[in-house]
Amino acid sequence: MTAHQQVLALNLVLLCCLQLTTTQTQEVSVCSGTQNALSASMSPEVQYNIMRDMYSGCQILMGNLEITLMDQHHNFSFLQSIREVTGYILIAINQFHSLPLDQLRVIRGNTLYEDRFALYVLFNYQKDGQYSGCETWASHT
Ligand SMILES: *[C@@H]1O[C@H](CO)[C@@H](O)[C@H](O)[C@H]1NC(C)=O
Repeated sequence: MTAHQQVLALNLVLLCCLQLTTTQTQEVSVCSGTQNALSASMSPEVQYNIMRDMYSGCQILMGNLEITLMDQHHNFSFLQSIREVTGYILIAINQFHSLPLDQLRVIRGNTLYEDRFALYVLFNYQKDGQYSGCETWASHT
């Protein structure tokens, strides 16, 4: 190898490294949402487990985030990674202490709930009858 070729080879190696690092830093975790609205085809327990598997570690949710008909307190900490939802968010008829959507910055509303709402929050309770959730969540956003 001549000196010139060596420099060229070194440059190529550097270039590859640079490209690797850029793709690594740009990598975001993407998942798809649901479009069930308020219909439940599964038991709440099964639905919760599916949601947890789908959304754990997810940063960009392509579609709608629907949390509905959760009939007991679950740990929703898996929502913490979500930064963006491209469709709508529907949170209805649940019991929960809090929904930790701390990282959520954007609801794009590319699809809307009932053709009108990018965010729809309805009837979320604690078992003792107090309203919950909305307040907890709103304080983060
Ligand atoms: C919820 O789950 C997360 C992660 O699995 C855990 O760190 C956290 O302690 C749990 N919170 C409650 C209240 O159980």
